[in-house]
Amino acid sequence: MPQLRHDPPGQGLGMPTIDVHTHYVPRGWPELPEGMPRLRIDSEREATIMVGSQEFRRIAANSWDAAERLADMDADGVDIQVVSPTPVFFAYDADAPAATRVARIFNDLALEICAPSPDRLLPFAQVPLQDPDAACAEADRCMRNGHLGVEIGNHVGDRDLDDAGIVTFLQHCAASGIPVFVHPWGMPSGPRLDRWMARWITAMPAETHLSIIAMILGGVFDRVPESLRICFAHGGGSFAFWLGRLENAWYGRRDIIATSELPPSKYVGRFSVDSVVFEPAALRTLVDTLGAENVIVGSDYPYPLGERPVGNVVHRSTFLDDAQRSALLGGNAARFLGLLSAE
Ligand code: CO
Repeated sequence: MPQLRHDPPGQGLGMPTIDVHTHYVPRGWPELPEGMPRLRIDSEREATIMVGSQEFRRIAANSWDAAERLADMDADGVDIQVVSPTPVFFAYDADAPAATRVARIFNDLALEICAPSPDRLLPFAQVPLQDPDAACAEADRCMRNGHLGVEIGNHVGDRDLDDAGIVTFLQHCAASGIPVFVHPWGMPSGPRLDRWMARWITAMPAETHLSIIAMILGGVFDRVPESLRICFAHGGGSFAFWLGRLENAWYGRRDIIATSELPPSKYVGRFSVDSVVFEPAALRTLVDTLGAENVIVGSDYPYPLGERPVGNVVHRSTFLDDAQRSALLGGNAARFLGLLSAE
C-alpha cells in the first residue's frame, strides 16, 4: 500500500479518497483589469459571478468557505480535494501583465481559502498561459508558496495545447514535477449552442477531445518527457469513445493526420482523465480504453453540473475490482499529485 507524506483524516483504512476536480471562487478580490468578471454579493452565503451585466453563475459559500467544503467532503467520504481556479477567471485574452496580476491575486486568495486545512485542501494555481515565461514564473512562485500544481485552460484563443509557447510551459512542468490539470473553457458560441447549456453539455466535451488530439497529432507527447503528469477534466471529454475513429483516420488518411510519430492509441498511458462521467457504462469505456491506472476521481464540486456524492459513479461501478476501485478513488491521484513518499 503506498504511503502518503501526510496522514489525511477520513476513512482510516487503505487509500484515501482524493477528488482532483473541484473549483473555488473567493468571496471578493481587489479590483481587476477592465473587462474581468466581478462578484455580486447577494447575501452572507450567496453571490453571483457577473460577466459584464450578465449573470454568469450563482455560487454559494462552499465556493470560498473551507468549513463548508470540509463538511461536504466528510458527508461524501472525500479525504482530499484539489482546489482549482474557476476558468472564467483565467484572463487568457488579457495582455500578459494583466493576466499575471489576475493570477497572482486569485492564487494568493486560493492559499487563504485552503489554509484552514492544508492537508485536505490542496490548491492548484492558474497561470498567464498566453505568455510562457510569465506562466512558468507564476507556476514556480505558487509551488514555492504551497500550491500543489496548476490548472490550465485547454486553449488560448486559437492556440491549442500544441502551441510552441504552451509546449514550453508543459516542458517546464515536466522538468519541475508540477502536475497539470486541463480544464475546457472558452467554448464557441452561437444560436445553436446558446440554449439549454449546450456549450457546457456538448462543446465542453468536444473541447477536451480536441485538445487531447492536439497533444497527440501535434506531436506534444513526442516532445515532452514521459514524466509529465497531466490530467484532463470530464473524463477527457469525448476522446475515449472516439479513439477508434481517430485511429482509423490516422491509418486511412496518413497524408493528412499521421503527424505524430506513433498511431494515437500508442499515447494511451501518457495522460489521465477524471471520473465525472456519471454512468458506470461511460466509466467502463474510460477504464477499458485508457486503463484503470489513468482514471482519477473528480467531481466538479461545488457546481451544479458536478457529481454528488463525489465518486458515486466509481462506487456504483460493479465491474471494478477492489484494486481498481482503490486506484480510481485515491492511488492514481496520489501518483498524479506526487503525494507518494519515496519509500
Ligand atoms: Co470543472
